[in-house]
Amino acid sequence: MKKTIIIYGSTSGNTATAAETLKAKLGDADVKEVSTASADDLANYDNIFLGTSTWGDGELQDDWYGFIPTVKAANLTGKTVALFGVGDQMSYSDTYVNGMGEIYEAVKNTGAKIIGATSTDGYSFNESKAVVDGKFVGLALDYDNQSDLSDDRIASWVDAIKAEL
Ligand SMILES: Cc1cc2nc3c(=O)[nH]c(=O)nc-3n(C[C@H](O)[C@H](O)[C@H](O)COP(=O)(O)O)c2cc1C
Repeated sequence: MKKTIIIYGSTSGNTATAAETLKAKLGDADVKEVSTASADDLANYDNIFLGTSTWGDGELQDDWYGFIPTVKAANLTGKTVALFGVGDQMSYSDTYVNGMGEIYEAVKNTGAKIIGATSTDGYSFNESKAVVDGKFVGLALDYDNQSDLSDDRIASWVDAIKAEL
């Protein structure tokens, strides 16, 4: 059976909530905070979900900085990666979920199959590093302005990608 891990970084708990909601929807998945993640956590799993909030001026959640070099150095050929990002599209309209774009950049050349791009419909922002070819590179969430949509967004996303897991 394929093994799934969710690795996330969260400062005030929103991305942690997203990770737990995602786990509940996926059914069988391990969840790990990125500050405790190691290269083995990438090597030992087939499906890898990576989640971050965005801080500062469009930066990764702090705990991610220690793990990004490990991600970049990993050979993830044959593995499937899906990304989720948490941000605030109203207050940070020029850098909405940029952190997810940073993780995408790190994963891009690892050989992994990246799945789970989503439409920007239903969001209102100026710019995001997480938009590539007109779509978010993963699932974008906003607990500050659209908290009530998050559970449904996670559920629809999992339904859309589960055949690829
Ligand atoms: C100082 C500060 C800077 C932020 N910068 C951004 C940003 O650049 N882009 C964005 O989408 N959200 C930004 N946010 C919003 C957070 O990403 C958002 O509140 C998120 O839900 C926090 O998730 P966490 O609790 O998992 O860390 C910022 C929030 C704060 C307080």
